[in-house]
Amino acid sequence: MEDYDTLSRHGLFDAKVPRYTSYPPANHFQSDVGMRFQTEWLSHVRHDEAVSIYIHIPFCKRLCWFCACRTQGTVTMRPVDAYVATLNKEIAAMRASLPKGITMGRLHLGGGTPTILSPQTMTSLLETVFGAFSPAADFELSVEIDPTEASEPLLETLIAFGMNRASIGVQDFATQVQDAIGRPQTLAQTTRVVQFLRARGLTAINLDLLYGLPFQTEASFRETLAHVIAMNPDRLAIYGYAHVPWMSKRQVMIKSETLPDTQQRFHLATIAKDVLTASGFHAIGIDHFAKDTDSLYRTAQAGQLRRNFQGYTDDQSETLLGFGASAISHFRDGYLQNAVATSAYQERIAETGLAGHKGYTMTASDQLVAAMIEALMCRFVFPTGELQDRFPTQAELIRQTAEGLMSHFTDVFNLNAKGLEILPRFEPLTRIIAKYIDHFASEDVGHAAAI
Ligand SMILES: C[S@@+](CC[C@H](N)C(=O)[O-])C[C@H]1O[C@@H](n2cnc3c(N)ncnc32)[C@H](O)[C@@H]1O
Ligand code: SF4
Repeated sequence: MEDYDTLSRHGLFDAKVPRYTSYPPANHFQSDVGMRFQTEWLSHVRHDEAVSIYIHIPFCKRLCWFCACRTQGTVTMRPVDAYVATLNKEIAAMRASLPKGITMGRLHLGGGTPTILSPQTMTSLLETVFGAFSPAADFELSVEIDPTEASEPLLETLIAFGMNRASIGVQDFATQVQDAIGRPQTLAQTTRVVQFLRARGLTAINLDLLYGLPFQTEASFRETLAHVIAMNPDRLAIYGYAHVPWMSKRQVMIKSETLPDTQQRFHLATIAKDVLTASGFHAIGIDHFAKDTDSLYRTAQAGQLRRNFQGYTDDQSETLLGFGASAISHFRDGYLQNAVATSAYQERIAETGLAGHKGYTMTASDQLVAAMIEALMCRFVFPTGELQDRFPTQAELIRQTAEGLMSHFTDVFNLNAKGLEILPRFEPLTRIIAKYIDHFASEDVGHAAAI
């Protein structure tokens, strides 16, 4: 009860907070950071670097009501094929602006639904990528897969190009929940894809679930978790459903009165953690779970977990190159987002080969705050000594922030050799603590619930 009061007093059940997949969050990107920076930052990438690549495919055949991703519906393949032709041009143009020796450590295809591509179009895209960037040692090719839109020839194509991690969208298996979120998907459809990939030797399978969906109950959620555990995934992401109909218009189809309240959301998140940790998964960060054998767990154990736009990652690269409409690149000096609308993106690529449209240049204090927030999100610690070593000229800001945290969140932290460590029972407050040290924080209603 005392813990519950502390969580409540610090705003767990009322606060609206960013997801902190970047700092600053993308809603603070500015339109005066555009292509000029893109060309300059590309030329600063080190010649011996293994960069990470993200390719955004915004298209979907179905448009699920709950989805807050940057997507657009299509019934024919014509716009998809034209889009991939534009991607191929962008890849060639960006490669030409980069130093010669760089390699590719990661390639992630996300969306929307990358598996909507025909095998021929996927082949053309992947041939372009591999023609431009040689894979580094320990290369990972990961792909987001909608099990209802994943033909066997397309999956075979991905395997042939070396896909070694699949990220499969589930959300929830209860029919009433699926009906209310506009995403029908049978257990058999999901199992078919998992078994197909396992039979072809894929050893890394991620599944995505959501808590906080309409009509989700403790019993229905436990049943979904049991189905998911029976599929034996290597990694799970269990996100809190972000209900933001003012940003994601399709969500108006989901009636707010059918949604669990924030206390019920907390209960569902707690059930997920209890059930999964009792079934051999380790909790990683605020919303991921992984088996002993999964690279995310090993990286977290080594204290090297990172945060990027996909959530948690073991990727240590300093450079992320984003391709496609709305895709975000991350350089040492800042962030750069491509034009968001597909038509605007295609026009920009046709004109110049690059589509950088807005972004953010990091100041020295932004770099420090980004490191503080990443340490909190990934390790639940404000590592005072480590920050002082990394940012020796900013000792004063580090000291002031540590003092502020200790006085504002007195009962939440434990002072130890690592610095200020969030007590495990208060880890759900992590994003609220991050917001406290966020220099851009405002009472922005654009964000989703803290739990
Ligand atoms: C690009 S989407 C899904 C990929 C693929 N198209 C599919 O349907 O399986 C990636 C993930 O984002 C998460 N997501 C989408 N909308 C969300 C929302 N409103 N709140 C929280 N997570 C969301 C879902 O878990 C989803 O699996
Ligand atoms: S959940 Fe997947 S299939 Fe559904 S709209 Fe979002 S990206 Fe498209």
